[in-house]
Amino acid sequence: MNINSFSNLTLLPKDPIIGLTEAYNSDLRESKINLGVGIYLNSEGKLPTLNCIKTVSKEKNYCSSRYLPIDGSAKYCQEVKKLLFGENNSLISESKLLTAQTLGGTGALRLGAEMLKAFLPNATVAISDPSWENHRSIFEAVGLKVTTYPYYDKLQFKIKKTEFLEKLKILPKQSIIVLHACCHNPTGLDLKKSQWEEVMSVIEENDHIPFLDIAYQGFNKGIDEDAEIIRSFVTRIRPTFIANSFSKSLSLYGERVGALSIATNSNTESKKILSHLKKIVRSNYSNPPTYGQQLVTEVLTNKFARNQWESELDEMRNRIKFIRNYLVKLLNKNSKDRDFSFIKSQNGMFSFSGLNEKEVAKLRIDFGIYVVNSGRICVAAINKSNIDYIASSINAVIDN
Ligand code: LMR
Repeated sequence: MNINSFSNLTLLPKDPIIGLTEAYNSDLRESKINLGVGIYLNSEGKLPTLNCIKTVSKEKNYCSSRYLPIDGSAKYCQEVKKLLFGENNSLISESKLLTAQTLGGTGALRLGAEMLKAFLPNATVAISDPSWENHRSIFEAVGLKVTTYPYYDKLQFKIKKTEFLEKLKILPKQSIIVLHACCHNPTGLDLKKSQWEEVMSVIEENDHIPFLDIAYQGFNKGIDEDAEIIRSFVTRIRPTFIANSFSKSLSLYGERVGALSIATNSNTESKKILSHLKKIVRSNYSNPPTYGQQLVTEVLTNKFARNQWESELDEMRNRIKFIRNYLVKLLNKNSKDRDFSFIKSQNGMFSFSGLNEKEVAKLRIDFGIYVVNSGRICVAAINKSNIDYIASSINAVIDN
C-alpha cells in the first residue's frame, strides 16, 4: 500500500452528538447555545464543580501514581457495587457480581461488547428505536449485528410496549438486549415497574442477555430509586451486564470514570469472566486512570461528601424539572398548532422535543441553537437567561 492511498479515504461525517459541539465551537455568533451534548450546566450556564468534589479534592494532595490493576481500583469497584446493587445485596458477598473500572460508560459498553463478541460471535444486539446514537456504533465496532426494538411512538408520545415485547419474542435466542435503566436517552420515557417485569419475563423466557446502561443515576427519582431496576434484573437474570458512568452524576465528564459490572451465577464464573475482561483491557489501554476514580471513591465513602453529593443531585434534578416545565409553558404560550405538554412527562437531562430534522437545522442556522438531529434537547443546559431566546426560536422554526 502506498502511503498516498490514505488520500483515497472517505471523509466521514461528524459524530451526531460530539460533532455538534465541534460545530458549535466554530460558530462565531455570541448568541449561540449548545443544547446538543448531555452536559449539566448550572443556573448560571456554567459547568459546576460539585461541592462534594471540592471537599474530597481539598483533602487530597496530588501525588504521582503507579499503575492501577488492569480492572481498576478494587476499592472503587467495591463502592460501585454497593451503589448500583445495594450495600446488603447478597450477590456481592457471594461474589456473583464482578465490576471492572472503565473509561466512562462508553468504555464499559465497549468492554462488555468485546466480551460478548468473543463468546457469542453471531449474537444479535437489539437497541431501542430510538436510542443513544453511540449504542449502535459501539456494538457494530466489535463486529456484532445490531437491530432495533420499537420503543417510542412519535405520534402519541408514549412507549410502544406491546411492539417492544413482541420484538423481544421474535429475536433469536441469546440476543443481547440493550436497555436504559433510567432516563431513557433520548426520549426521557421509562417503563413502569410492572412493564419492566414483563420485559424481564420475556428476556428470561428467550434466554436473552440484558445489557443495562445507567448513565443518569439520580437524575430521575434518586440514587437508590433509579437503580431499582438493575437490582431486580441481577436478582432474576444472570448474566446481566451493567454499564454505569459518573460523568453526569458527579459532573466529572472529562475524567472518564465508569464501570462494567456483570452479574453471574457463581464465584468461579465471575473469576473466569474477569480474567477475560482483563485480557481485553490489557491489550487496549492497559489499565484505567487513577484520579477520577479516587474522587468518586472518596465521595462515596466520606459521609460528609456523600451527603453533599446527594443534595447536589437533588438540586440538579429539581432544576431540570423546573426548566422543563417552564420551557413547555413558554412554548405552549406562543404556539398556535403544537402542544408541547407531552414533554412534561419526560425524565432526565433531555427533552425529546418532537422537532424534525428540518426544524433542527433551521434552529442551528438561523438562531445558533444546537440540538441533536433527532430533536433531542439538553434541558440541563437551559437557564433563566437563555430560556426566552430558546423558546421563541423554537416557536419561530415551527410556525414558519
Ligand atoms: C450524550 O448523550 O449527549 C452524552 O452521553 C455524551 C455522549 O457521549 O454522547
